[in-house]
Amino acid sequence: MEYSEKVMDHFMNPRNVGEIEDASGVGTVGNAKCGDIMKVYLKIENDVVVDAKFKTFGCGAAVATSSMATELIKGRTIQEALQITNKAVMEALDGLPPVKVHCSCLAEEALHAALWDYAQKNNIVIEGLKEPVEDVHDTHH
Ligand code: FES
Repeated sequence: MEYSEKVMDHFMNPRNVGEIEDASGVGTVGNAKCGDIMKVYLKIENDVVVDAKFKTFGCGAAVATSSMATELIKGRTIQEALQITNKAVMEALDGLPPVKVHCSCLAEEALHAALWDYAQKNNIVIEGLKEPVEDVHDTHH
Protein backbone atom coordinates (compact mmCIF):
# COMPACT_ATOMS: atom_id res chain seq x y z
CA MET A 1 0.00 0.00 0.00
CA GLU A 2 1.36 3.37 -1.04
CA TYR A 3 0.75 6.56 0.87
CA SER A 4 1.56 9.98 -0.49
CA GLU A 5 4.04 12.20 1.35
CA LYS A 6 1.20 14.49 2.35
CA VAL A 7 -0.75 11.64 3.90
CA MET A 8 2.33 10.56 5.83
CA ASP A 9 2.97 14.12 6.96
CA HIS A 10 -0.57 14.62 8.25
CA PHE A 11 -0.48 11.20 9.88
CA MET A 12 2.83 11.82 11.65
CA ASN A 13 2.08 15.46 12.52
CA PRO A 14 -1.69 15.77 12.62
CA ARG A 15 -3.03 19.31 12.73
CA ASN A 16 -5.88 20.40 14.98
CA VAL A 17 -5.95 17.43 17.33
CA GLY A 18 -7.93 18.11 20.48
CA GLU A 19 -11.26 19.57 21.45
CA ILE A 20 -12.92 22.95 21.60
CA GLU A 21 -14.57 23.49 24.96
CA ASP A 22 -17.17 26.02 23.86
CA ALA A 23 -17.68 24.47 20.42
CA SER A 24 -20.59 25.73 18.31
CA GLY A 25 -21.14 22.25 16.94
CA VAL A 26 -19.82 18.79 17.69
CA GLY A 27 -20.18 15.76 15.45
CA THR A 28 -19.39 12.15 16.24
CA VAL A 29 -19.54 9.47 13.61
CA GLY A 30 -18.46 5.88 13.41
CA ASN A 31 -17.48 3.62 10.60
CA ALA A 32 -19.51 0.43 10.79
CA LYS A 33 -16.96 -1.44 8.69
CA CYS A 34 -13.93 -0.97 10.87
CA GLY A 35 -15.39 0.39 14.12
CA ASP A 36 -13.30 3.57 13.99
CA ILE A 37 -14.77 6.69 15.55
CA MET A 38 -14.28 10.35 14.72
CA LYS A 39 -15.29 13.42 16.68
CA VAL A 40 -15.13 16.92 15.23
CA TYR A 41 -15.52 20.24 17.05
CA LEU A 42 -16.31 23.45 15.19
CA LYS A 43 -16.30 27.02 16.41
CA ILE A 44 -18.52 29.16 14.21
CA GLU A 45 -18.81 32.93 14.34
CA ASN A 46 -20.94 35.00 11.96
CA ASP A 47 -21.38 32.06 9.61
CA VAL A 48 -17.66 31.43 9.41
CA VAL A 49 -15.81 28.43 10.79
CA VAL A 50 -13.13 30.12 12.88
CA ASP A 51 -11.71 26.98 14.47
CA ALA A 52 -11.86 23.23 14.04
CA LYS A 53 -10.45 20.37 16.05
CA PHE A 54 -10.82 16.62 16.00
CA LYS A 55 -10.25 13.51 18.01
CA THR A 56 -10.25 10.10 16.49
CA PHE A 57 -10.02 6.51 17.46
CA GLY A 58 -9.11 5.51 13.97
CA CYS A 59 -6.54 4.41 11.48
CA GLY A 60 -3.75 6.46 9.96
CA ALA A 61 -5.79 7.45 6.93
CA ALA A 62 -8.60 8.64 9.22
CA VAL A 63 -6.11 10.76 11.15
CA ALA A 64 -4.60 12.23 7.97
CA THR A 65 -7.94 13.04 6.36
CA SER A 66 -9.31 14.62 9.54
CA SER A 67 -6.17 16.66 9.90
CA MET A 68 -6.48 17.91 6.33
CA ALA A 69 -10.25 18.39 6.55
CA THR A 70 -9.98 20.55 9.66
CA GLU A 71 -7.24 22.59 7.97
CA LEU A 72 -9.42 23.08 4.88
CA ILE A 73 -12.54 24.08 6.80
CA LYS A 74 -10.97 26.83 8.90
CA GLY A 75 -11.84 30.29 7.64
CA ARG A 76 -14.63 29.01 5.39
CA THR A 77 -18.23 30.06 5.48
CA ILE A 78 -20.76 27.35 6.27
CA GLN A 79 -21.73 27.03 2.61
CA GLU A 80 -18.07 26.74 1.59
CA ALA A 81 -17.55 24.20 4.35
CA LEU A 82 -20.19 21.98 2.78
CA GLN A 83 -18.07 21.78 -0.36
CA ILE A 84 -15.30 20.05 1.56
CA THR A 85 -16.11 16.53 0.52
CA ASN A 86 -14.04 13.44 1.08
CA LYS A 87 -12.99 13.80 -2.56
CA ALA A 88 -11.69 17.32 -1.96
CA VAL A 89 -9.82 16.16 1.12
CA MET A 90 -8.28 13.23 -0.74
CA GLU A 91 -7.20 15.50 -3.56
CA ALA A 92 -5.56 17.84 -1.08
CA LEU A 93 -3.66 14.83 0.25
CA ASP A 94 -2.60 13.68 -3.25
CA GLY A 95 -4.85 10.65 -3.01
CA LEU A 96 -5.42 7.62 -0.84
CA PRO A 97 -5.18 3.91 -1.63
CA PRO A 98 -8.60 2.65 -2.79
CA VAL A 99 -9.14 0.45 0.28
CA LYS A 100 -8.72 3.55 2.45
CA VAL A 101 -11.30 5.73 0.73
CA HIS A 102 -13.95 4.90 3.33
CA CYS A 103 -11.68 6.42 5.98
CA SER A 104 -11.89 9.80 4.28
CA CYS A 105 -15.69 9.56 4.39
CA LEU A 106 -15.44 9.52 8.17
CA ALA A 107 -13.91 13.01 8.14
CA GLU A 108 -16.57 14.38 5.80
CA GLU A 109 -19.39 12.82 7.80
CA ALA A 110 -18.02 14.15 11.08
CA LEU A 111 -17.76 17.67 9.62
CA HIS A 112 -21.34 17.44 8.43
CA ALA A 113 -22.53 16.06 11.75
CA ALA A 114 -20.87 18.98 13.55
CA LEU A 115 -22.52 21.47 11.17
CA TRP A 116 -25.83 19.71 11.74
CA ASP A 117 -25.37 19.99 15.50
CA TYR A 118 -24.64 23.70 15.11
CA ALA A 119 -27.80 24.17 13.02
CA GLN A 120 -29.90 22.28 15.55
CA LYS A 121 -28.56 24.33 18.46
CA ASN A 122 -29.24 27.59 16.66
CA ASN A 123 -32.50 26.61 15.06
CA ILE A 124 -31.28 27.30 11.57
CA VAL A 125 -31.47 25.35 8.36
CA ILE A 126 -28.25 24.89 6.43
CA GLU A 127 -29.18 24.47 2.83
CA GLY A 128 -27.87 21.27 1.30
CA LEU A 129 -27.01 19.67 4.63
CA LYS A 130 -28.60 16.33 5.41
CA GLU A 131 -29.17 14.85 8.82
CA PRO A 132 -26.21 12.63 9.68
CA VAL A 133 -26.77 8.90 9.80
CA GLU A 134 -26.37 7.65 13.33
CA ASP A 135 -24.25 4.57 12.94
CA VAL A 136 -21.95 5.01 15.91
CA HIS A 137 -23.77 2.27 17.82
CA ASP A 138 -24.41 0.12 14.81
CA THR A 139 -22.40 -3.00 15.52
CA HIS A 140 -24.65 -5.48 13.79
CA HIS A 141 -22.63 -5.88 10.60
FE1 FES B 1 -11.40 2.66 9.87
FE2 FES B 1 -9.71 3.81 8.29
S1 FES B 1 -9.78 1.70 8.74
S2 FES B 1 -11.34 4.70 9.30
